[in-house]
Amino acid sequence: MHEARREPVSILMDCDTGIDDALALVYLCSQPHVELVAVTSTPGNVDAEQVARNNLALLDLCGRSDVPVAVGAQAPLGIPLVTTPETHGPQGIGYAELPVSRRGIERRDAVELWVEAARARPGELTALLTAPLTNFALALRAEPRLPELLRGVVIMGGAYYYQGNTTPTAEWNTHVDPEAAAEVFRAFAGQPEERLPIVCALETTERIEMRPEHVAALARAAGCAKPELVDPDHAPGLRSQASNPLVRHLSDMLRFYFEFHRDYDQGYVAHVHDYFAASVAAGTANFSTRTATVHVETSAPRLLGTTIADYRGLWGEAPNARIVWSNQPDEAFKELVAAVGGLAAGLDF
Ligand code: RIB
Ligand code: CA
Repeated sequence: MHEARREPVSILMDCDTGIDDALALVYLCSQPHVELVAVTSTPGNVDAEQVARNNLALLDLCGRSDVPVAVGAQAPLGIPLVTTPETHGPQGIGYAELPVSRRGIERRDAVELWVEAARARPGELTALLTAPLTNFALALRAEPRLPELLRGVVIMGGAYYYQGNTTPTAEWNTHVDPEAAAEVFRAFAGQPEERLPIVCALETTERIEMRPEHVAALARAAGCAKPELVDPDHAPGLRSQASNPLVRHLSDMLRFYFEFHRDYDQGYVAHVHDYFAASVAAGTANFSTRTATVHVETSAPRLLGTTIADYRGLWGEAPNARIVWSNQPDEAFKELVAAVGGLAAGLDF
């Protein structure tokens, strides 16, 4: 059992912002014990340049224009990029229209940033990966010692003995770039258990199911005067009138996400996968893991990106992952509402 604790943690985040990535990033900005070292942008939900624009705008909104944003790969390692505007919107942030940041991205490539940071601060940095693993795989190619140089790794990716959300067996992040995911898991084989990546996969991240009442609670915690109603009976695309800009933008993102999940018969809910992974990286979640050997399918056309976990050593291969098998959704939303509501209330708009 991994007990929540708020010890200082320094996080390098790679994301494909996306609505749940946005929530994860805002959550990290709300955590005083988290040093957000840098945010790098991988193509996935939208293309890499749009991911970077979203990251810059969100960091500005949270008063964190000090955090560098970089771009690396423009496409997966071996296959063309497929984005998902239907899930996260054409710009990856649902109906939100974020103020465009006046600052630019880092000149350094994301991979260079990762390698330099890990070499400069051995044993100090935690990697949080909420996107296809393209940039991280490239960083491992550039610095094979990354598993030893990093303090920890948290990955949102895969589905283990659980239905996929992109194909019947594959989860989005591992499906967008199966080769990168396979390289990343292979790179950790044989590491001591405490160095194996903590993997947040669909069987537990889909339990973190945000609902309209959580958005209403967030607005209350931010001190919004009027109730923030995101109602399934509203006309699609209705825009929030919340007085707090951070609440307003998050509400506009989540409304889009609620509508997407409903359109795909999952109910008027939003699986906020990446927020859960961020809470694991920040040390604020209670969860349990099981050690396994993970394989990512990279050749069978119908099974591309499918992740399989050997929990019993049947393959006789060294473990390469610690997969989350239990988490606490109610606690997760109490934490999210209090933390992000508090951040929103304290921002000077
Ligand atoms: O399958 C869910 C994952 O894919 C999340 O990281 C979401 O943002 C998308 O990238
Ligand atoms: Ca993501």
